[in-house]
Amino acid sequence: MGAESWWRNTTIYQVYPRSYSDSYGNGIGDLPGIISKLDYIKDIGFETIWFSPFFDSPQADFGYDVSDYYQAAPEYGTQEDIYKLIEEVHKREMKIVFDLVLNHTSDHHPWFLESRSSLDNPKRDWYIWRDGKGKKPPNNWKALPGGSGWHYDDITGQWYYASFLPFQPDLNFRNPEVKNAMLDMVAFWLDKGVDGFRLDIFHSIFKDQKFRDNPLSRHFIPRNDKAGFFQEWKYTVNQPETVAFAREIRELTKAYQPERFLLGEIFASDEIKRDYLGQDQAGLNLVFLWDLPDARVTAKDLRRVIEKYELNFPDPHFPVYVLGNHDRKRVLSRVGGNIHLAKLLAVLIFTARGIPVTYYGEEIGMIEGSGPIKDCLDPVGQRYKNVPQFLLDALDIYVNRDGCRTPMQWGPGKNAGFSSADGDLWMPLALNSIEQNVEVLKESPDSILNVYRELIKLRRNYPGLVDGKLRVIKAPVDVLAIERVIPEETIGVFMNFSSREMHLEPFGPDCDILFSISNAEVNSEGIYLPSFGALVISSK
Ligand code: GLC
Repeated sequence: MGAESWWRNTTIYQVYPRSYSDSYGNGIGDLPGIISKLDYIKDIGFETIWFSPFFDSPQADFGYDVSDYYQAAPEYGTQEDIYKLIEEVHKREMKIVFDLVLNHTSDHHPWFLESRSSLDNPKRDWYIWRDGKGKKPPNNWKALPGGSGWHYDDITGQWYYASFLPFQPDLNFRNPEVKNAMLDMVAFWLDKGVDGFRLDIFHSIFKDQKFRDNPLSRHFIPRNDKAGFFQEWKYTVNQPETVAFAREIRELTKAYQPERFLLGEIFASDEIKRDYLGQDQAGLNLVFLWDLPDARVTAKDLRRVIEKYELNFPDPHFPVYVLGNHDRKRVLSRVGGNIHLAKLLAVLIFTARGIPVTYYGEEIGMIEGSGPIKDCLDPVGQRYKNVPQFLLDALDIYVNRDGCRTPMQWGPGKNAGFSSADGDLWMPLALNSIEQNVEVLKESPDSILNVYRELIKLRRNYPGLVDGKLRVIKAPVDVLAIERVIPEETIGVFMNFSSREMHLEPFGPDCDILFSISNAEVNSEGIYLPSFGALVISSK
């Protein structure tokens, strides 16, 4: 494995800059604010921090619409602040991962302004422009959040393509100038010491060269890998050129020491995801897997997820264990506010074989914000403003992403310690900030925050939790039990997802208890798990 592959045993924490910490007192998080909180992240034990974009942007999609890949958005700070952030993360011996939005720019990016200005502008071919079919778009391609992906532009009478929202025009990666401009930017940040990139909607980078219509499908509700809005995403995502491009970016990162890494946001079947990683490991280092955040939180369903991850991403691949992010419902709200279940999920992601990723606030049990969809700021949510909430709930589609982006809860005081602003925060606080915040939880030994801290420490102290083979062990239906095996020891992990107490067979002769929730223990009869209890034990 080698010391250079640090990312194989790292733990990742995701910061959403707008919501982390406001040092200017204007109700919006910023870079100096984040820097002032790095000790907190270090103290929990995380080794790598991924930052959602803080680059200059009109903020129509809160930073996922970049207008300058080299400058910070003024409300977040300056380019100097970005350099300082890199330096301060490194000073604390952590790694820093940037969020790379390669697929599209903002429609305010100077490249797009030029490109749209005339048919013969030198940057015309930097984006994807086509003639329509009469008054209709060039073909039937739909955008990922629904609606046609094509947008008519009056200036030249042609249509441009956008995989996401209309103000996020897709770059044309078939044009070598575009590819080089983006790779130069990647190299710029690698030279500045950035340790890796999370690649935003990477599966969309190339579209079919012949612009063939996508086939129809029965599925309206988008599915992770195949279809949505009654169309199969055959020609708009996961093209062979995109898989090849993954290898090309990896080639670039390979030239750097210490080793850098690439983590792709990919929506595809596991088979295709493996292609992005490459049989020879020469593609992306890691890809996000979505079975866990989509799964029902029962021992049975989670067991199935682990088995699928192990089957489809065996060693030397590493599954990525993520519970939520800035696009998904807060995990605690997903489990009906049951903090015990949130703790058990933490046990799972830090003891399974893979890379755990924690979205800010999961470690303190933040819940969804409660703003109604009609007032939402999220541009995806705004498209569904007129759909009644009960219908969205019934269809179980999450479209108002404001809910998972509320300000970080630092303390019980004013603005939960996020900001000193007297006016409105950019986004109202979630309703549990008085009870669930860093200040209160750090004092309580069995709080979720301390569970996170202990689990990360455990991972660091017991190599079996990182390198060990994973086996799912037989257990009562409501108990999820796994073991991690290295030649020197076997570590057993037992999680009771029910409110009933459970008694299990003994686990090997000489057992040491490494970690326990709710006084789960080993006694003369075997393993005792109280309601929602968990136990990690080692047997030599
Ligand atoms: C990704 C991001 C999401 C963003 C979209 C467009 O899915 O996670 O927040 O809106 O891409 O860049």
